[in-house]
Formats: sequence, structure tokens, C-alpha cells
Amino acid sequence: MTTRRTFIRRTAAAIAGVSVISRVEAGGRREDSGEQLFPVVVSTWNHGLPANEAAWEILRSGGYALDAVEAGVKIPEADPAVMTVGYGGLPDRDGKVTLDACIMDEKGGAGSVTFLQHIKHPISVARLVMEKTPHVMLSGDGALQFALANGFRKENLLTDAAKKAWKAWLKTDRTFRPVVNIENEIRQNHDTIGMLAVDRRGNICGACTTSGMAFKMHGRVGDSPIIGAGLFVDGDVGGAVATGSGELVMKTVGSFLVVELMRNGRSPEEACREAVERIVHKIPGYHEHQIGYLALQKDGQVGAYCMKPGFDYAIRTDSRKELVPVASYCSE
Ligand code: GLY
Repeated sequence: MTTRRTFIRRTAAAIAGVSVISRVEAGGRREDSGEQLFPVVVSTWNHGLPANEAAWEILRSGGYALDAVEAGVKIPEADPAVMTVGYGGLPDRDGKVTLDACIMDEKGGAGSVTFLQHIKHPISVARLVMEKTPHVMLSGDGALQFALANGFRKENLLTDAAKKAWKAWLKTDRTFRPVVNIENEIRQNHDTIGMLAVDRRGNICGACTTSGMAFKMHGRVGDSPIIGAGLFVDGDVGGAVATGSGELVMKTVGSFLVVELMRNGRSPEEACREAVERIVHKIPGYHEHQIGYLALQKDGQVGAYCMKPGFDYAIRTDSRKELVPVASYCSE
């Protein structure tokens, strides 16, 4: 928790243009406790645990944070048991699996794909958009065309389990309703995966990927591929990712807001909390939705906050490998 004094100190430091990370030595060790803060990788929900392990393999051997976050989120993208990301994701109301993803590096580079069908790893297509095109975002058929031209293979992403869930939904009144912590309803507790990492050299990068809301309208795109909404990284400050009902995140440009609040001296948790409170103040019906923000400063300090109980994040460092429960604005 931040006292008034630490807040004033951070704010004064931010106003004076002094780095808010001065308590951390080069190399990622805390001056006071000696704790090694980076390399570090964090990601949303319990599917972040295996995803972090893939990212950690790269980070621990001195690899680049961008390679780490891409490799990390590819784990749930390929896992059919994760029904909110990539292959095996729940389809839209027309039975089509449509994927959204984006990626950012420490220099402000950004790539994104939206409404992409038939490609198992949208995050890798997003990275290629960043690295090989003059654009930030490709969508729908154009994104698919770009992926195929770059060697990606067309696949059927609708698994039998996802098809069964869709067929069951077709027998309902077919009204779209937000489902809080959606995977609780199906099998596990997870949703979009957003991942942030700081590598040994202090570079911070992030990735975000999802199949979006289950049974959404065909053509609906959420916050996850929107730079500044589902993900934002500023190499001078840190990064943030969002999970939950994308419409509310987009309306408040949530991840950008979190990073800007950290730039102005808030701790990662304070910044995430203020971004959730912005939704509370601006959007009626907020209590029907889960929103989770996860933030990582470039010095390796982490924080998160959510709208409803049930959100957690996974962290991996040389001494930590765990799921961390997150405080919420609503009590239930
Ligand atoms: N946060 C994921 C989505 O709304 O699509």
C-alpha cells in the first residue's frame, strides 16, 4: 500500500523527470533488499503458469523479452483445453473461431491482427506485422492472406469440445451476456492471456492473445489486439495488459492509462486500481463485468487489480513460480 508520503515522493520524482526506478540497480537487483527483480515474466490467469515457463526458458538464458513473450503465449494458443485463446477457443455466434492478438517491444514497435481465422498462432502473425510491414494492424482476410504469404498453415481451429459448447448455446435464447471469469463456467479459471516480460538487459516487451468473447457477434473485435487497450508498453516506464470484457477496456483505453499513471508516479497496483475505478465512474453496469489489469514496471515491480473477485496472475523469476490472487473493487 502506498502512504501519502511515498505517493508524494514518487509524484515529485516523476515531475522532476527523475526515474521512478532509481531504487533498482542496473542488473535488476533492489538496492534495499538485494532481491533480483528481473528477468521476470508475468501473465494473466492460471494458463499463465505453463506460458511463463516457456518464456522463462528464454529469459533465464539471457534471451530477448520479445522472443520470450511470443514463445510464452504460444503455449495457450496451441492448447485445446484453453477455450479462450487460439486453437480450441470458443467460436462466435456463427460457429467461427476468430482470433485477436498484439505484441509490443521496448522501442514502441507494435503489431496486431484482428478477426483472424484459421491460424493457430496469431501472436506470431502480429509480430511479423510489426517487423515486416509499415503498418500496425491487419484484419480479417487481409491478415489471413499476409499469414499464408509468410508460411503459416491454414488449420481448423474449432475443436469438438468448442463445437459442443456452441451447439449447446444455440439451444439457449442466444442473448449475449458477459460471463465473469468465463472459464469457471466451462472448465478452468482463465480468459485472455496477456504477458509482460523484462529481460536481463532490462528490455520490457508484451503480448496479448485471445479468441475473444464466446458467442460474440461475427466480426466483433475486443480490446486484446488494440494497442493501448489490451496491451501497452513504454520502454521508459513499463507495460500493462488487460483481461475481461474488452468493450469496457476499449472505452477507457485501459492499458495506456495504467502505463501513464505509472509514468506519473503510481505503483503498478495503484495504477491498475485507478484504471478499474475509471471504469466504475464512467460505465454503468460495470459490476456485471470482470476486468483485470496487470502491470509491470521496467524495473521488474509488478501489480494488478480487478473488478470482481477471481482474477489472478502468474509470475516467474529466478526465485518465484506462482499464481498470485488479485484484490478486487467489488466484493462479489
Ligand atoms: N478481453 C478479451 C475480449 O474482450 O475479447
